[in-house]
Amino acid sequence: MRWIDTLESAAASKLPEAVHRYFRQGSAGEVSVGEAVEAWSRYRFRPHVLNDVSSIDLRTTVLGTPVDAPILVAPSTMQRMADPDGELAMARGVGAAGSVLGVSSNAGTSFAELGATGVPWWLQIYVVRNRDITRQMLDAAVAAGARAVVLTVDTPVVGRKEDEGQTVWDLAQDDQFLVNLPAGEWTDDDLDKADDLNPDVIGWLAERTGLPVVVKGVLRGDDAKRCADAGAAGIIVSNHGGRQLDGSIPTAQALPEVAEALAGSNVEVYVDGGIRRGEHVLTALALGARAVFVGRPALWALTVGSAEGVTRLLTDLTDELAHTLRLIGVPAPSSLTPDLLTTR
Ligand code: FNR
Repeated sequence: MRWIDTLESAAASKLPEAVHRYFRQGSAGEVSVGEAVEAWSRYRFRPHVLNDVSSIDLRTTVLGTPVDAPILVAPSTMQRMADPDGELAMARGVGAAGSVLGVSSNAGTSFAELGATGVPWWLQIYVVRNRDITRQMLDAAVAAGARAVVLTVDTPVVGRKEDEGQTVWDLAQDDQFLVNLPAGEWTDDDLDKADDLNPDVIGWLAERTGLPVVVKGVLRGDDAKRCADAGAAGIIVSNHGGRQLDGSIPTAQALPEVAEALAGSNVEVYVDGGIRRGEHVLTALALGARAVFVGRPALWALTVGSAEGVTRLLTDLTDELAHTLRLIGVPAPSSLTPDLLTTR
């Protein structure tokens, strides 16, 4: 059996049930989480033949940072539930694979410690009602060497999870996910996610940090354009792994519209959600993504194999991508085009 396909059940046998459920689950009726993987597998390939594929080069850059392959790790909280070293182990695994790490604003490791690893990382931020909190977190991330700010925009309120019994929140200690919250007497209201954001927040983040701003959670071309006009350097086509608005369209379906809206601009397009195979990565790149992010597989790999598990996940996906590029007759990701695909 393919190692990546063993990860979820191997992780389940190591984790408390409530934690495993938290990693796996979607919101509400779990329609979107259930459709995500299959949506990539719905595409069919129209390969080229008689092209020289003796040398495959997967290296690229993401916002100027060189990576060995266009496969990055999505920000996710509760990594210290997966491994005692949490984000530090994730960072080591990502670094060994020559990739980039997304770091949740609800990380269980301090930004300073992550920065000290030297592994390139992007801060994911939820702007909260009390902007003092957000400002202080941004400043700490900049001081720790974050290379970009990823603004998550699909969560003005947190999607309802239909849990019964014990949940991850019953088990989690503050030092597992709130390490970077600035010191202070904050109320729940201070900490609630801001639900009054508009595209001006992109310029505010760029100005505050001096970093490129990537907007995560866009599913429409018109919104992608609004973000670009407001100064976004990148867009992550994402439905948050089906964890917020249930029933939102699969990212495999949303990506072409967003890529088309941003064609000819300098805005880099990324995608996440349901990417589990080299064939899925290739499909995403052919549809216009510069790179993909993986979420749950990285958490499962961290649970099962710590840093080495994460490295193996990324290198296995990279090997699969190289193999698939050979079979489709295209030696470099930058030459992938939508005409290589058709829908079933
Ligand atoms: C997430 N994700 C997420 N996104 C974000 O912007 N901030 C966060 O703190 C988290 N936390 C988080 C926790 C867990 C347990 C999961 C599974 C996901 C969403 C994540 O970045 C990404 O969008 C999805 O996970 C991508 O889908 P796949 O690869 O998991 O199918």
